[in-house]
Amino acid sequence: MILSVCVGSSCHLRGSYRIISELQQLIEEHGLGDRITLQANFCAGRCQKAVAVKIDEDSCVELDSTDVDGFFADHVLGVLAP
Ligand code: FES
Repeated sequence: MILSVCVGSSCHLRGSYRIISELQQLIEEHGLGDRITLQANFCAGRCQKAVAVKIDEDSCVELDSTDVDGFFADHVLGVLAP
């Protein structure tokens, strides 16, 4: 799975670096470092509400920096769990 967090200017102001750091921590805590690639990318054209996080090439979620745990549970663990 590839998680691409937007670090464009709008998303940066909404906390994209904090989100990257929290995702990195969650990936380590769950031992998923070999299954998830976490990367930064530039404007995904979805700057209106929250930080744009692309999941593989399939979908893009607007993630509020206060809901990283919920995002991880739903969109990462919920998908990768056997
Ligand atoms: S700056 Fe992140 S989607 Fe535009």
